Amino acid sequence: MSENVVYRDPQRSVEERVEDLLSRMTLEEKVGQMCQVNGNEEPEEWLRQHHVGSFLHVLGPVTNDLQKLAEESRLGIPLIFGIDAIHGHAFWPTSTVFPTQLGMSCTWNPELIQEIGRITALEASFTGVHWTFSPVLGTARDLRWGRIDETFGEDPYLVGVLGSALVRGYQGDELSASDTILACAKHYAGYPGTQGGRDSSEADLTERNMRSLFLRPFHDAVEAGCATVMTAYQSIDGTPCSASRWLLRDVLRGEWGFEGLVVTDWNNIGRMHQEQMVYATMEEAVQKAVEAGNDMAMSTPEFPDAAVKLVESNSLDVEILDEAVKNILRLKFKLGLFDENRFADLEKGKEIIGCENHRQVALESAYQSIVLLKNQNNLLPLNVDPSDLKRIAVIGPNADDPVAQLGDWVSWSGQLRDAARERPCETVITVLDGIRSRVGAICDVDYCRGSDALDPSTENVAEAAELARQADVAIVVVGDNLALNGEGRDRANLDLSGGQQRLLEAIYGTGTPMVVVLINGKPLSIPWVAEHAHAILEAWNPGLEGGAAVAGILFGDRNPSGKLTISFPYHVGQQPVYYNQIPGWHADYYADLPKGPLFPFGYGLSYTSFVYANLKMSSDSLRQGEVLRVDVDVTNTGERAGTEIVQIYINDVYSSVTTPVKELKAFERVNLGPGERKTVRLDVPYGCLALVNRDLETVVEPGAFEVMVGGSSRDEDLLKDRFEVAGP
Ligand code: NOJ
Repeated sequence: MSENVVYRDPQRSVEERVEDLLSRMTLEEKVGQMCQVNGNEEPEEWLRQHHVGSFLHVLGPVTNDLQKLAEESRLGIPLIFGIDAIHGHAFWPTSTVFPTQLGMSCTWNPELIQEIGRITALEASFTGVHWTFSPVLGTARDLRWGRIDETFGEDPYLVGVLGSALVRGYQGDELSASDTILACAKHYAGYPGTQGGRDSSEADLTERNMRSLFLRPFHDAVEAGCATVMTAYQSIDGTPCSASRWLLRDVLRGEWGFEGLVVTDWNNIGRMHQEQMVYATMEEAVQKAVEAGNDMAMSTPEFPDAAVKLVESNSLDVEILDEAVKNILRLKFKLGLFDENRFADLEKGKEIIGCENHRQVALESAYQSIVLLKNQNNLLPLNVDPSDLKRIAVIGPNADDPVAQLGDWVSWSGQLRDAARERPCETVITVLDGIRSRVGAICDVDYCRGSDALDPSTENVAEAAELARQADVAIVVVGDNLALNGEGRDRANLDLSGGQQRLLEAIYGTGTPMVVVLINGKPLSIPWVAEHAHAILEAWNPGLEGGAAVAGILFGDRNPSGKLTISFPYHVGQQPVYYNQIPGWHADYYADLPKGPLFPFGYGLSYTSFVYANLKMSSDSLRQGEVLRVDVDVTNTGERAGTEIVQIYINDVYSSVTTPVKELKAFERVNLGPGERKTVRLDVPYGCLALVNRDLETVVEPGAFEVMVGGSSRDEDLLKDRFEVAGP
């Protein structure tokens, strides 16, 4: 095709090019652009027969072959390739794998998370990928839900801040740069709100609830420029999210002005007909989904034929279709897919994917994500003096299990065509590896798996206990694994599974000091561990360098600084246990459990101690447009340097509707040397005091507000004061 064709001309504006290209497309070509197909299943056929616009889950050379085929088609519209690069480009076997989102969130460090996004984009770009289905912006609620590990925790403000940072990292400054990829805010919306934590069922949410809790992080991501949004699987009040005009047209595009692309989740359209049973035919499901505002259908093989039929029979307005196609083409032009070569370049990527610099960032992320939950008599850090520490027993099913350590959305067995190599296990530093390499030359490190996270048999428990008996300290690494965690793997029970509890009891029985390291995708109900272990480190799924970070913290190379972004329950029946509860007469209490969570949101210990004093506010009243400045002195009263995460919570004392007992409004990471004191300033802008009232308006109501500042969401950790918002 000649170069003076408008859509081929890079000098023309994106809009001119989009309009020109659209005017040349047949109905079949338009519908094809709206299809995203699993690239592992006859992609060439899909391309030739249906002119599909996008593939997912293919990487490397195969993307180049497919792209060439697309270029040879009548209009030569390039393909866009998407993948779940959720915590690093982890489907590529040699890539850098970072802690999962839940782990990342415990760093409370948006700059670091942005850097993780940048590295992920860079590594992905060499393998032919243009789009990651990340971040997950669900506000965690019921811990039984299998996808808790994919969230940034239970606070909507924090989810919004960290999610936006990841978006900025993926998309960089300029979408057309060759090392950027599109971000995708998912799953829109209310997905963690399903009943009983059962994935993709009904979320019985009111619009007030949606606006107060679930929509906000998506709004933040849209404001941060997030280019795409994925609709959630579940239904809300009877309407599947993919059929919700309210979510897609009224709120997303109408209220927030979103101009990007909306993609469904995996066969959401088919499921409305086959599982949610709201549309009697596939055609009807396709019609409703397109009319509601979905631009691209992920993995709905019936989509192309159904959509063509609908338009030909005048059941679907072609103008609606045109809008969707324009949203897709616009991004393809913006990414530079028509103008520059965004082919996979593995030769160029070889030196960069998984390089030492990137691993250093993975190590730093793991360090900052680890939360010290208990440290009785300052057992940690362990003294690496050979006269003190001659023998260490490393025990437990997750001590040397790279798969459990890396967690979800990581390729192990070549699920993907062309990336079909095993991820080399030796690139993952397990806790056992980390401990051996840190102290193996100084003391004996013995290892025994001891038990299994699934199998309850206790055959090896005695052997493990014997090792512990002979050791100066036992480091027991327990938690969960991918059979108990991830999409489609919701749990009814949050206790330690398999033979793990009995293993811990046996080790405890030896009298050897016991450090428990948790490698798990979600908070577990571990009151016995909280009472009996001498120290507990929560490491989540800490990525490739996780074992090095655990060892660095155990032996005091680093002082832990992570804080929980999600609360731990005493018992599964205590659900929901999130900190931002609505108050009520008997609302926070079960007769047969202690009150409150086992470990609360915002909590995390350090090897030093911090004292808060002198809470001062810039004013005791606030008006529209103003910012309340809150100062607090934080002193490191211990003998080593440490990082404290200073948190500020607000409560609207009397409001026209019930509001949470406290809500996080700002936070700051502060580094303090031994004995050092700093005055930390936190800003509370007037707008962040808003609630959603009964008329669904977002308003700040006059009256008293309580300010709470401290090192966790627990009342005893907070200094408190009050200010007034003046009436109109
Ligand atoms: C289904 C998951 O719900 C979604 O998060 C993911 O992005 C898609 N599959 C594609 O793998």
